[in-house]
Amino acid sequence: MSRGRPEAERAKTLTILGSTGSVGCSTLDVVAHQPDRFEVVALVGNRNIDLLAEQAIGCGAQIAVTADESLYGALKGRLAGSGVEAAAGLQAVMDASRRPADLIVAAIVGAAGLKPTLAAAEQGTTIALANKECLVCAGDVFKDVLRKNGAQLLPVDSEHSAVFQVFEQPQSEQVERIILTASGGPFRTASYDDLKNVTPEQALKHPNWDMGPKITIDSATLMNKGLELIEAYHLFPVEPSQLEAVIHPQSIIHSMVSYCDGSVLAQLGVPDMRTPIAYALAWPSRMPTPVERLDLAKIGQLTFEPVDSDKFPSVDLCLGCLETGGSASAVMNASNEVAVDEFLSGRIGFLGITELTRAVLDDADASGMLGTMTSLDDVSEADQFGRGKAIELARRLHT
Ligand SMILES: NC(=O)c1ccc[n+]([C@@H]2O[C@H](COP(=O)([O-])OP(=O)(O)OC[C@H]3O[C@@H](n4cnc5c(N)ncnc54)[C@H](OP(=O)(O)O)[C@@H]3O)[C@@H](O)[C@H]2O)c1
Repeated sequence: MSRGRPEAERAKTLTILGSTGSVGCSTLDVVAHQPDRFEVVALVGNRNIDLLAEQAIGCGAQIAVTADESLYGALKGRLAGSGVEAAAGLQAVMDASRRPADLIVAAIVGAAGLKPTLAAAEQGTTIALANKECLVCAGDVFKDVLRKNGAQLLPVDSEHSAVFQVFEQPQSEQVERIILTASGGPFRTASYDDLKNVTPEQALKHPNWDMGPKITIDSATLMNKGLELIEAYHLFPVEPSQLEAVIHPQSIIHSMVSYCDGSVLAQLGVPDMRTPIAYALAWPSRMPTPVERLDLAKIGQLTFEPVDSDKFPSVDLCLGCLETGGSASAVMNASNEVAVDEFLSGRIGFLGITELTRAVLDDADASGMLGTMTSLDDVSEADQFGRGKAIELARRLHT
């Protein structure tokens, strides 16, 4: 029996949004190990044009695009003579997303990833989704676009990839719970008082995963787990009451699904994003990766503990947004993005991240801003409200 892929299988055409980031680089590494399987159409980045040009030349992309219009000349200069086209600005990002491709990896960070990802969805392109903020801020509106255009959504987040691999779709009625695991971040064992003095440098040191700064801070506040619970709600046919999170410091079990007969199915692996990325790239098949293999005897112990909601209130905050529905998650996501920036710039403390986000949600609720969301305009309005209010409240905090 042949152990390779069928000879007739043609290379998949692939675009990467956010190629210069952590997920983008891991994706290109997976592709570099299986070069015959993929043909890169477009790479999209923002400010790191040295890396963007190097990546585009290295993988033979058709086009490299920076979202920053002012960097066009510099990018073009770096690509001179390579045969790779250069483009810049939001319109160019949208055009790149619309280029015909079998698969697009959506790995821009934050709500900035929404419009380019939607542009790909409108073409019916299969989306390997790393950018959880897309589903958090636009949930049903985003899924509506996917449905209308027949675009398949494949999760890249390791937890959702795990659930996707063990969620028996035909038996969805028999699913009792989705259990997302969380490492607990760098402050799992810290006291509440310790958290008052946390610096950005300390918060940027994740114990298990090497990721971009925004998701690393979200992991330290456990906001990341809250965002992932909202993401899971949108990806799988479950109610909010069927979602839970458990702390699992080793990050070996990436998540679990429990069924009505008492069975719990889990997906395991070393904490390396190249596995869930490869799963999405090869789906519905699998492909080899150079990822270290799991050695359970060497690891010895897998441990679990409940989420400490007093120390990390962001998980409950996100579940509250799911219960409220409408624009609550979009407002919360936007204010969290601002709060993370404020913390990284040293303008607010670590505990201030969740406090600011909660204050914005309370304000939105009191001023009747948490309405229904049925269009992209509604999403933009909620996002702008959350962002504007968070900036206003943060300024008051540091004056
Ligand atoms: N890292 C992980 O292991 C991981 C795991 C699961 C899910 N995710 C999710 O995946 C997404 C990306 O995370 P990451 O850790 O890879 O982030 P990251 O390392 O910070 O990379 C972000 C990428 O987005 C680009 N970018 C930023 N703003 C942009 C804009 N306005 N337009 C176009 N591109 C823009 C950046 O370009 P420049 O660098 O060139 O400026 C970079 O390529 C996030 O939503 C995160 O929650 C990440």
